[in-house]
Amino acid sequence: MYSEKVMDHFQNPRNVGEIENASGVGTVGNAKCGDIMRIYLDIDDEGIIRDCKFKTFGCGAAVATSSMATELVMGKTVQEALQVTNKAVMEALDGLPPVKVHCSLLAEEGIHAALWDYAQKKGITIPGLEKPKNDISEGLEEEDY
Ligand code: FES
Repeated sequence: MYSEKVMDHFQNPRNVGEIENASGVGTVGNAKCGDIMRIYLDIDDEGIIRDCKFKTFGCGAAVATSSMATELVMGKTVQEALQVTNKAVMEALDGLPPVKVHCSLLAEEGIHAALWDYAQKKGITIPGLEKPKNDISEGLEEEDY
């Protein structure tokens, strides 16, 4: 049911942990399944993501997608990190079963929330970044579960 990459990132998640004095921290949850994800970003003066860590209290797909998302944004600029959508994360993992697609939204939204926090702290606007939702189940259809 899960690809080898998903199983690998679930069993050996990359970049688990916290960053002290992170440039941006984002926490998002999904009220329907109760899963929560927190993403920490360390962004340098050039706007490049030097480090990214996560903590996820959630299902296996949420762990695997957070792990992959942290790998994908590492070393990228803030603008490039915005392109790391849940689709990009799923593709990098060789796909997810349809009932688990919503779990990947947690990863995308977690990154956006951390970028939003960074922008707030710096007093800047990141073009294309919208205020993230705290609960990603808002606006999702029933059949997405
Ligand atoms: Fe909730 Fe996967 S079931 S994120």
